[in-house]
Amino acid sequence: MRIGILTGGGDAPGLNIAVYTLTKLLERRHEVYVVFHGWRGILDREVRRISSKDLLDFAFTGGTFIRTSRTNPFKDETRAEVFAKNLKELGLDVIVAIGGDDTLGAAAQTQARGLANVVGVPKTIDNDVYGTDYTIGFDTAVNEAIKVTESFKTTLISHERVGVVEVMGREAGWIALFAGLATMADFVAIPEKPVDWNVIANRTKEAYRDKRWALVIVSEGVKEYGGPKDEFGHSRLGGVGNELAQYIEKITGIETRAIIPGHIIRGASPTAFDRVLAIRFATEAYAAIEEGDYGKMVAYRGGDIVRIPITEVLGRNRLVSGYWLRLYEIYWGV
Ligand code: F6P
Repeated sequence: MRIGILTGGGDAPGLNIAVYTLTKLLERRHEVYVVFHGWRGILDREVRRISSKDLLDFAFTGGTFIRTSRTNPFKDETRAEVFAKNLKELGLDVIVAIGGDDTLGAAAQTQARGLANVVGVPKTIDNDVYGTDYTIGFDTAVNEAIKVTESFKTTLISHERVGVVEVMGREAGWIALFAGLATMADFVAIPEKPVDWNVIANRTKEAYRDKRWALVIVSEGVKEYGGPKDEFGHSRLGGVGNELAQYIEKITGIETRAIIPGHIIRGASPTAFDRVLAIRFATEAYAAIEEGDYGKMVAYRGGDIVRIPITEVLGRNRLVSGYWLRLYEIYWGV
């Protein structure tokens, strides 16, 4: 078969390993192609035959060697027609779509319209893909957020200041929650648990009184500023950290600084967990292809790798809830 691999949406550490592993497994019996720039690569016909040897040098780096985009191939019917025509002419029998909910949504439509068989692999630092406990890239992003926060903390202690760290995550507070637990932040603000900023200021003041420094971690999705939207309708987020720091300083009178590591936590070399997760997901995607089990997404559930219908994960995000929200409440509940 002719099998295409693509990565869509924000890049995530571990993508290159997933692409490399898949290629290495598939090339034994099939022709493997990479589709550059996510779904845009079908529209632009940026598809190239690849061998695992071409990928090896980059396999363990962050980012995505085969590039990415936030292009929605089904944005309108005119585009969808070009997409269908190109896909037919390119003759790809199967597409492995490695992405978040948007990329996987386009994969589901590709399957539903009978344009190609698809297998989905979940990745995003946000960890918000429904149906899987973990996505490729999340663990690395958390570890990087911890590193940045720990460095920031040393200077907060030296100067006896309050610090606010804003982390990515979109509408899901996973990165903030995990980084907050791992650094025992004095307060963590997540979109799933809206809170009056006065509460945050008061908590900060109490913590400062005890130890003469304080740390707050805030998830970018706590406030939307209505920036430009991408083709899947997502607004650009970011900036709440600065606003929150100013607010805390105004209310408490304590000198407060904010840092926004932004994409830095997304571009790192993958952790052991993400490397192994990427390899396990790729291996399962390969098995699905060999078995002709299409329209599925591979997922991590309770330590096992399973396959679930890709349609099951669409239109909903995995947000901080259940056990994780209870853990949140124990430390930062109001
Ligand atoms: O979805 C991953 C993510 O890093 C989000 O956490 C963030 O809001 C967004 O992508 C940033 O996107 P961009 O790289 O387009 O600025």
